[in-house]
Amino acid sequence: MAPSLSSAKELLRFLGKSVFTVLETMVFTLIPKPRKNVAGEIILITGAGSGLGRLLALKFARLGAVLVLWDINKEGNEETCKMAQDAGAVRAYAYTCDCSRKEEVYRVADQVKKEVGDISILINNAGIVTGKKFLDCPDELMEKSFDVNFKAHLWTYKAFLPAMIANDHGHLVCISSSAGLIGVNGLADYCASKFAAFGFAESVFIETFAQNKRGIKTTIVCPFFIKTGMFEGCTTSCPSLLPILEPEYAVRKIVDAILQEKLYLYMPRFLYIMVFLKSVLPLKMALLLAEYMGTFKVMDGFLGQKKKD
Ligand SMILES: NC(=O)c1ccc[n+]([C@@H]2O[C@H](COP(=O)([O-])OP(=O)(O)OC[C@H]3O[C@@H](n4cnc5c(N)ncnc54)[C@H](O)[C@@H]3O)[C@@H](O)[C@H]2O)c1
Repeated sequence: MAPSLSSAKELLRFLGKSVFTVLETMVFTLIPKPRKNVAGEIILITGAGSGLGRLLALKFARLGAVLVLWDINKEGNEETCKMAQDAGAVRAYAYTCDCSRKEEVYRVADQVKKEVGDISILINNAGIVTGKKFLDCPDELMEKSFDVNFKAHLWTYKAFLPAMIANDHGHLVCISSSAGLIGVNGLADYCASKFAAFGFAESVFIETFAQNKRGIKTTIVCPFFIKTGMFEGCTTSCPSLLPILEPEYAVRKIVDAILQEKLYLYMPRFLYIMVFLKSVLPLKMALLLAEYMGTFKVMDGFLGQKKKD
């Protein structure tokens, strides 16, 4: 008799929590979720030397966060640091770090812990794209895509997650991509690295949740093309549904998702529908739709990030 009573209790608890969660979701659909305060939090942004990383640094500077900025590009990173200080950052520190090198990540992470303190918000943003078709892409470039876009996330988590767990406080942000949700013609290595980054961040989120570490949040960001230069020359044949995003807009949405502790952010919204359609449509229908929307050709004009002198 005892086991069935306890399973009835478990079922009731599950149903009660489910009703509460549905009601909570309905309330936060009508009223925007309160934003958390990040003043005084120590935020590490990788790839802060340009593009989204720089704009994220400036936004968080205005919100009173302490900034730790990493980039392989020393000059760009120091420029961001100066801009963040001018924008009102309480404290901002620039560290030159090649995130594709595990030992360098660990070394710079130790230096940060000694000189600044424990990171409470980690934004894995550094990224590269080869823009080559799979068989044309040299092995070293494919390895580099994985090292920067995915493996660097393993090393930064290893370096900073233990303190977050000890304090049951922290936020892990993964800048993945729409290419981390749906395969793209001409982006095989990039897609694979972004799928890996997505799966890794989601899995560690589940791991901390299962360990009852509810103070550790995760946000996984999957944007379509953004005008930062990384995908220079790429096009969209469906600008009304899949527009190329303005960097300022993308960063506003990312910061909002972090402050509201959202787990997933896909931009533009039509991506949520694309992911749903990919799961439910018959394959032939999905391919016809993708062809009709011109998604096989988005990489045809790829030029990529111009080298800075
Ligand atoms: N721009 C887009 O269309 C787009 C779309 C989806 C996702 N993303 C992702 O957003 C993130 C930011 O990209 P962005 O558009 O700002 O591009 P970006 O090229 O302007 O910025 C990337 C930054 O990463 C740095 N970086 C590259 N390799 C590094 C390394 N080994 N170690 C440390 N830093 C390194 C670069 O120096 C640069 O400052 C990337 O992860 C990218 O994959 C971009």
